[in-house]
Amino acid sequence: MPYYSGDLIEEVISQNDIVEVVSEYVTLKKSGRNYMGLCPFHREKSPSFCVSMDKQIFKCFGCSEGGNVITFIMKIENIDFWEAVEMLAERANIDTTRYEVNNYYNKIESAKKDLKDTMYKLNRDVGLFYHNNLIELLKEEKNDVKDYIISRKLDIKTINKFGIGYSTGKESLYDYLVKQGYSDEEIMASDIILKSKTGRKYDRFFDRIMFPIFDIRDRTIAFGGRAFGEKVNNKTVPKYYNSQENEIYHKGKTLYLMNFAKRNKLENIIIVEGYMDAIALQKFGFNNAVASLGTALTENQARLIKKYTDDVIIGYDQDGAGQAATLRGLDILANHGLNVKVLKLDREDVKDPDEYLNKYGPERLKNCINNAISLVEFKISILEKDLNLDDFDSKVRFLTGVSNILSKIENNIERDLYIDKISKKYGMSPGPILKEVEKGLKTKKEDDIQIDMNALNKKMQLVTSVRKRQEQYIVALVLSKNKRVQEAILNNISSDDIDDENVKKIYGFILSLKDKYDINKIDILSKIQDEDMIKEITDIMYIDISGYEEKLLQDVLKNKKKEKLFTRRDDIIKRLNENISDDESQILNVELNQIIIELSKLK
Ligand code: CTP
Ligand code: MN
Repeated sequence: MPYYSGDLIEEVISQNDIVEVVSEYVTLKKSGRNYMGLCPFHREKSPSFCVSMDKQIFKCFGCSEGGNVITFIMKIENIDFWEAVEMLAERANIDTTRYEVNNYYNKIESAKKDLKDTMYKLNRDVGLFYHNNLIELLKEEKNDVKDYIISRKLDIKTINKFGIGYSTGKESLYDYLVKQGYSDEEIMASDIILKSKTGRKYDRFFDRIMFPIFDIRDRTIAFGGRAFGEKVNNKTVPKYYNSQENEIYHKGKTLYLMNFAKRNKLENIIIVEGYMDAIALQKFGFNNAVASLGTALTENQARLIKKYTDDVIIGYDQDGAGQAATLRGLDILANHGLNVKVLKLDREDVKDPDEYLNKYGPERLKNCINNAISLVEFKISILEKDLNLDDFDSKVRFLTGVSNILSKIENNIERDLYIDKISKKYGMSPGPILKEVEKGLKTKKEDDIQIDMNALNKKMQLVTSVRKRQEQYIVALVLSKNKRVQEAILNNISSDDIDDENVKKIYGFILSLKDKYDINKIDILSKIQDEDMIKEITDIMYIDISGYEEKLLQDVLKNKKKEKLFTRRDDIIKRLNENISDDESQILNVELNQIIIELSKLK
């Protein structure tokens, strides 16, 4: 990506109306001067997601996410700042080449971006190195690596398509990278090469089958390496090693093989646990398979999926899908509006989709996929597995558990269908289940108060202390259109006058700006990238001070003066209690009297 001048940011913001952009993702309804909708960043039933046309910002009063049009695209598309700028530039038909610069003003930013670009390239080169090593070994008549590859039924087409490799060949990876022109610093930053105590530089993945991990733009961002042979059988080494998280690799934002899956028209997505499961599925034509790589699913992954489809099928290991962490992951998917189904393999002698495919073939697996059960049924089946339904106590617990699960279903018809289905399946009369479910529904309704903007503002005022609110006014005043007030604040208030950490950060940041006297609401946001600061500043932007600027300025200045006097007063009192001379005591007492008089005038 080239470097762009900061002007591009302003152009992008002015050419992309936030209401229009957000409307492409969220259904918005006009409400006074704002647009309201259901927040795409957390689960909610009544709208607290607010888009302001005049401020050109969004704010969720439920989860506190907020920002401008660029922040919105970053979050919803899961991309970084400049990627979002480029995407919005494209949307508005802005010719970005006009904004390319060679000496970008922010040296640190550009160095960081350079390193990132280098890391993408380095990871790609490493992947090729591993891949070529494997190809060489497969040309030989026989060796351990080749035997293992054959035993896993990995054919050459698959190996090429997914860039599968083997770590280390005739030459060491480190020497290879040096030859490719990478500096030592760059090589070590990749975290693939480690340094031993004796100073030897070695490949952390040495002697493993290597799976490159790609992002959705096909860039190699990380690796998984699988051990094989005796060592792993004897459990002397972990089966898999994975790259550490870094600037370019965020585990919770990645789904393995999503870059391949997204190339197809997706009816649904199958999420499996392991590298080999996703590969085997894709090999057999299930090109909608991705892997979560053994970790619990995250909100970011849910959003990523939601971009492509609303339907997911979970194909976790037979023993794996019952765990609490997994269930939480599935709830996260459901909470993002995804329709979640769970794959149940119809054979117990295999543990995962890879093994199933190799033993029973794709036709039969297709059948299982078609029979995948809903998340609700799945949860109920887990409940059932844990209890022995013959005994009375367990039956009661089962029923309560089932009712609990069912009362979370929002659609009435769906809920009734389940009640019917469950009561038939377990030979229970539907009446008691219905009663329990209704109880659950009632308590839920009570938690779920309709929120309107006024109530939201009141709520915000309640959670914000008076002290903090005062400090927020300082920033609000700087952002106001009243030049005189802006200057008075900037010249009289320092960031040390502010206690609240985030407000302090923002105010300090504004003070540090070259053009601080020209700052306005819209461009301040495009300069901030820290999450906490964005949340805070969007809160502040929603404080309406118009018409009160002068009065608030007086308050702020008065408060500052008061505070100074209070501090001095306390110091004097402290000093007076110490062993001091009569002369000093007399002088201090005079000063103390003056302070008390001044303070009383200020009240
Ligand atoms: N995993 C890991 N580290 C381990 C074990 C597992 O990172 N020590 C991750 C890997 O991403 C792995 C996934 O969890 O692919 C699922 O683990 P598991 O089911 O044990 O392995 P499989 O993917 O089935 O691997 P294989 O078929 O090669 O045994
Ligand atoms: Mn497996």
